[in-house]
Amino acid sequence: MTAIRRIDVLGLRNLSNVQLLPGEGVNIFFGANGSGKTSLLEAVYYTGLGRSFRSQRVESVIQTGLDEITVFSELFSGATIGVTKGRSGNHILKLMGERQSNWLPTARQLPLQLLNSDSFDLLEGSSKTRRKFLDWGVFHVEHDFSGDWRGAAKCLAQRNLLLKQRTPDKQQLEAWGAELGSYAARIDCSRRSYITLFLPVFERTLSSLIGIPGLAVKYFRGWEDGAELVDVLNASLERDVRYGATQTGPHRADLQIRIGKSRADEILSRGQQKLVVVALKVAQGVLLSELTGTKVLFLVDDLPSELDKNNRKRVCELLCQLESQVFMTCVDASDLDDAWPSSICPRKFHVEHGKIRPV
Ligand SMILES: Nc1ncnc2c1ncn2[C@@H]1O[C@H](COP(=O)(O)OP(=O)(O)OP(=O)(O)O)[C@@H](O)[C@H]1O
Ligand SMILES: [Mg+2]
Repeated sequence: MTAIRRIDVLGLRNLSNVQLLPGEGVNIFFGANGSGKTSLLEAVYYTGLGRSFRSQRVESVIQTGLDEITVFSELFSGATIGVTKGRSGNHILKLMGERQSNWLPTARQLPLQLLNSDSFDLLEGSSKTRRKFLDWGVFHVEHDFSGDWRGAAKCLAQRNLLLKQRTPDKQQLEAWGAELGSYAARIDCSRRSYITLFLPVFERTLSSLIGIPGLAVKYFRGWEDGAELVDVLNASLERDVRYGATQTGPHRADLQIRIGKSRADEILSRGQQKLVVVALKVAQGVLLSELTGTKVLFLVDDLPSELDKNNRKRVCELLCQLESQVFMTCVDASDLDDAWPSSICPRKFHVEHGKIRPV
């Protein structure tokens, strides 16, 4: 079961020393501005991904006056994950007490989905955000994907390095282009299979929240259909040399989310956008559970904002149907009082000055 039984947090922002026993289902953290609610979600995120979703620099996350952050989590499955990060970027990651050299094993143990104010980027941000979203799903479903992805990234880096040279070696460019092409074909194939499974789940999930006639999600693989990437790269070599970087390939893939000819964010209200984003993320949780039996842990920061009472209720009902563990924050607990089905009794925790106590 992908759910946290116990989490200890030391030295993360204003959370000096927190020990928490969350429930397997919905957990609500409420408290005043600046009390430490988002910091707790950050701590959980550290467990799964070893980094913050708010700051690139670990120094801003480590509590002022301390040298490191430690987050220790025990899952209901019995797995333990320990993370220590210091100011100089040094880190120790342990899974079941054994030191790990990268984050892939913990990311697989604890698939996380975060819903916060940055999630709107899925609609209004660059293609990078949507690619990351798509690749999260492919990564958890297709275990060869991370190897192909790393292979493509290496070819791309080498090709871009050559493109930046005064007189790039054409033969070498073609060789890296050919290798990139073969990784790209596999990446495209994995992404395409995932998206074929994902779209019906997304449509079902969205329609349980809101009807948006004409909303369509379309996958673009990063280069034109019907052509091999290697041929496209060879044909557009001059342009790539001019830009000093590869302009087509799997690193340019996108999920175009449109209503008619417009981008969805240009038409939808803020609340409607939030429901689309919730549907996208929840659909990934549903699909992962259907395909692998793995439940996704949901981190939801400030659910009430932008949503009216009925829509809060719809989102909460949807999250309950997932039977996943949910960590949800809000300023005022009463904002979510009527949002739950009668069979659900969320655990509530009051957050105050970096202390968290069950209510
Ligand atoms: N490195 C740090 N060291 C100590 N305290 C910090 C550090 N970084 C941030 N803080 C403080 O930690 C507190 C908790 O911030 P957090 O964002 O978790 O609050 P919050 O409960 O989510 O508030 P809001 O309702 O406004 O979103 C804030 O008072 C913030 O100023
Ligand atoms: Mg917050």
